[in-house]
Amino acid sequence: MGGTTFSKKTIKDVSLKGKVVLLRADYNVPLEGNRITDDYRIKKSLPTVKYLIEKGARVVICSHMGRPKGKDDTSLSLEPVAKRLGERLNKKVYFAKDCVSDEAKKRMAELENGQVILLENLRYYSEEEANDDHFAARLAEGTDLFVQDGFGVVHRAHASTEAITKHIPSVAGLLLEAEVTAIQAAMLRSQRPLMALIGGAKISYKIELLNRFIDIADIVAVGGAMSNTMLLAEGIKVGESLAEPEDIALARQIISKARAKAKKGNFVFYIPQDGVVAKEIEPNTVTRIVDWGTHIIADIESYPRQPTKESSLVATDEKILDIGPFSGAFIAGCMQLAGTVIWNGAMGVTEVKALQTATGPFSHGTELIVEAMLGQFGHRPHTLVGGGDTVGYIESRGLVDHFDHVSTGGGASMELMSGKPLPGVEALLDKNK
Ligand code: 3PG
Repeated sequence: MGGTTFSKKTIKDVSLKGKVVLLRADYNVPLEGNRITDDYRIKKSLPTVKYLIEKGARVVICSHMGRPKGKDDTSLSLEPVAKRLGERLNKKVYFAKDCVSDEAKKRMAELENGQVILLENLRYYSEEEANDDHFAARLAEGTDLFVQDGFGVVHRAHASTEAITKHIPSVAGLLLEAEVTAIQAAMLRSQRPLMALIGGAKISYKIELLNRFIDIADIVAVGGAMSNTMLLAEGIKVGESLAEPEDIALARQIISKARAKAKKGNFVFYIPQDGVVAKEIEPNTVTRIVDWGTHIIADIESYPRQPTKESSLVATDEKILDIGPFSGAFIAGCMQLAGTVIWNGAMGVTEVKALQTATGPFSHGTELIVEAMLGQFGHRPHTLVGGGDTVGYIESRGLVDHFDHVSTGGGASMELMSGKPLPGVEALLDKNK
């Protein structure tokens, strides 16, 4: 997987007619009660499911939902997914109330060519996350071929991603192939300059990603709560903002690595220079723009410039909730120069909607950078969006189809971008064997 072409066998390399195919999907979708609020992962699984149906396979799909920790939890049942998948396929999707019971095996054996059944949540069994071999063997019973298409879960070594491959021939689905290919191409064969924009809450969660991008990208900009920890590391007060004082050492490591690269030239590392602050995270709260100073780590001599005026300080009872207009303009401006932009994580609190408007008081920074990425200011770079919450945001704005690639995997896309091996991909059959 280290190279830039997908080296694993896929469903296009094997015969499927009449075969019982165990398809691992990632149908871990957001639910409110039993209503699916975002079915992006279901939509993205359709090409593989349709291909298997067209080729006359008997399709047995398994997935996890949430983290039930080895217990039956009806609030995490996959039954609503069976219904939604059926609607999307325009075809009956059967549902088995367990993934390995005799009853489930009987229903699998009764399938006809082209029929589809979805099994209940794998994580009702603790053996799934324990990568248990007996559980994997039982899961494989009565099936001829394993197809891994749950890109969002291939960074986990679980029974349905790794142990299973020891029991039946195992190949990749079309979504998995598309994800790995698109992400590796954007990282390694990208149109330069390559810009990475990393937001979200925790630095510790994204440390490897930041390290990798400092190694390979031309411009790295950070936003979201994560950048508050970087500001703290630079001696800027952030009031009551979400930040991780315990990660200041990590933030310093990142900054000094970035500074060393910037010193050699042709590299920019950018921490927001201003923010939208408020005392409360509420729709119609009073906001203020605070400009604490330039934080472009490109010129070692002029950095850092510490704020001197009272108005340039975040007050002790204020929170930074979005990037400010200077930061938005700088990031959007860099996008006008970039050949490729890889984006992971919102710039501010995008969940809060202001009353009677479609937008919220802390989402303008994210909106601006989305406009810039999508070419509203003239230049349109190649765009790749890492998964997770960022996808929920662009889905809610109906913009998913406007990006070149929007990943279905949160943790998985980060680990792939960080250069880590993905156990669920490594375990599949090699193309040339
Ligand atoms: C995800 O939502 O990132 C995947 O479905 C993996 O879920 P997990 O983090 O609970 O393993």
